[in-house]
Amino acid sequence: MTVEDSRNGAAAVARTERNWAVIAVTIIIVMTLLAVVAGLHRATMPQSEVQAVDPARLHLSGEFIEANLGSERGVDGAVTVRVIGQQYSFTPACILVPTDTPITLRATSADVVHGLLVQGTNINTMLVPGYISEQPMRFTKAGDYLMPCQEFCGFGHEGMWGTVRVIDKAAFAERAKGGGRLSCVGE
Ligand code: CUA
Repeated sequence: MTVEDSRNGAAAVARTERNWAVIAVTIIIVMTLLAVVAGLHRATMPQSEVQAVDPARLHLSGEFIEANLGSERGVDGAVTVRVIGQQYSFTPACILVPTDTPITLRATSADVVHGLLVQGTNINTMLVPGYISEQPMRFTKAGDYLMPCQEFCGFGHEGMWGTVRVIDKAAFAERAKGGGRLSCVGE
């Protein structure tokens, strides 16, 4: 190997290192910009509306009294589901909803902060006492989905589970004919 050869080799290595350094720095810059843009976008678009509710009076009056919990089918066919989380259960513990229907989940907590997620979906929200969490849902596949509490809420946290049962749209409409609130508790 001549002196000339080793100089060429060193130059090639330096060039390759420089190229990779440029790629790495470019990736970092792009990701930083993405984070800044996403952060600013969020900061300039706060939650459109905060809905408050008195956690001590949930069962006495208003939207979350026991008779109003569960699934309600509106005149347009859309469904609203109202749920309360408390140490250590959800009410209703089995939520009944139809397939291929826009569903609005409205939930709150009667005591401490809980979480609610529906496995196999991107439905995931916190239940904070004093506030109503609203979350759109839509299911294309019938079946049972587990709904665990995903926020540590005390010693019984691990045992805080619910179920979302998705049934055929027509079957749901049939059951909803009589009005009232639907659930699958005890089925
Ligand atoms: Cu409720 Cu964890």
